[in-house]
Amino acid sequence: MHDASSPLEVAVGDLRLRSPLLTASGTFNLKTDLTGVLDVRGLGGIVTKTVTRKPRPGNPPPRIAEVPGGLLNSIGLENEGLEGFRARELPRFAAAGVPLIVSIGGDDAGEFAELAAAFGGRPEVAAVEINVSCPNVDRGTAAFAARPAAMARVVQACRDATRARLWVKLSPESPDLWAFARAAEEAGASALTVANSHVGLAVDWRRRRPVLGRGAAGYTGPGIKPLTLRLVQTVAGATRLPVVGAGGVESADDVMDYLVAGASAVEVGTAYLRHPGVFADITAGLERFVQEEGIGRLQDWVGTLAS
Ligand SMILES: Cc1cc2nc3c(=O)[nH]c(=O)nc-3n(C[C@H](O)[C@H](O)[C@H](O)COP(=O)(O)O)c2cc1C
Repeated sequence: MHDASSPLEVAVGDLRLRSPLLTASGTFNLKTDLTGVLDVRGLGGIVTKTVTRKPRPGNPPPRIAEVPGGLLNSIGLENEGLEGFRARELPRFAAAGVPLIVSIGGDDAGEFAELAAAFGGRPEVAAVEINVSCPNVDRGTAAFAARPAAMARVVQACRDATRARLWVKLSPESPDLWAFARAAEEAGASALTVANSHVGLAVDWRRRRPVLGRGAAGYTGPGIKPLTLRLVQTVAGATRLPVVGAGGVESADDVMDYLVAGASAVEVGTAYLRHPGVFADITAGLERFVQEEGIGRLQDWVGTLAS
C-alpha cells in the first residue's frame, strides 16, 4: 500500500491512483482471483470485464490460442448482464478497496446510455469505461470503430446519462485515430483508453479452417506493444484528455515507455493471464527505478518523449 506521497502515484484527470497499474478489461475475474486481488501490491485500480444489458454467451469455442508475441482471443463479451453483474460481481469488486472502473458495451447508443446511468451514479464506481472497440462482436462495434460520428453518438448519450468519469476505449483498427480521440473529447469523454485488441487470424492450413471458432480474433500481448505505443503517442498529441495505455505491458520498463509516450496509467491484460504475479513484479521494478535510478515521481515522466 502506498501513501499519498508515494512516487508511484499518478492521476488520470482528477482520479488519483496509488500506482499506474490497472487490470485490463476482460482479463481479471474476481470469482477466481480474490486472493490475487488481496495479494496484489500496488494495484492502482481494477477495470472489469465488459458488461452488456442482457447476459451474453460469447462466441463458439475454441476462443483462445497462443501465437508468437501473445494471444488470440474471441471471447465475444461473454458476461452475465447488467442485473447479474450488479447483484453478484459489483459488491465483490467494490470490496477489493481500489478504484473500480466498470467497462460497458452494447449494440447502440441507448444500451450504452442505460449502462452508463446504472453504474455512473454509484459511489463505488470511480469511472465507466465505454468499450466501443471490441473486435469480437458483429453488431454495433464495427460501426463505432469505423466512423468518429458513430462513436461520438455513443459517448454523447453516455454523457447525457451521467456526470461520472467516462473513459472511452478506442480501437487500434480505426483509421485516423486522432480524429476519434477529438470526437470523443468533444462528446464529453474524461479520458481515452488506447487501445483494445488488434485484429488477427490463426489458421490450420491442413484443415483449411481458422483455429478459433469465430475466425478472426483479438491479438494482444507483447507483440502489439510497439503498435499501441505509437497510437498512444498519436492520441496524446491530438487531445488534452488523459490517455490510459493498454497493449503488451509486461515489465516496469514497458510502463515507463507508455508514460513517456503520453499515457497517464496503463492496463495490463495478457501478461496477467500468463503470470498472476506480474503486478507485484512490475511494482517492485518501478520501486527499484525510484530508489536506484532516482527517477522521482512517475507522474513527472508522463508525455516527456522528445519529438
Ligand atoms: C481474454 C481477453 C478478454 C478480453 N476482454 C475484453 C473485454 O471484455 N472488454 C474490453 O474492453 N477489452 C477486452 N480485452 C482487451 C484487453 O482489455 C486489452 O485491451 C488488450 O488485451 C491489450 O492489453 P494486453 O496486451 O496487456 O493484453 C480482452 C483481452 C483478452 C486477452
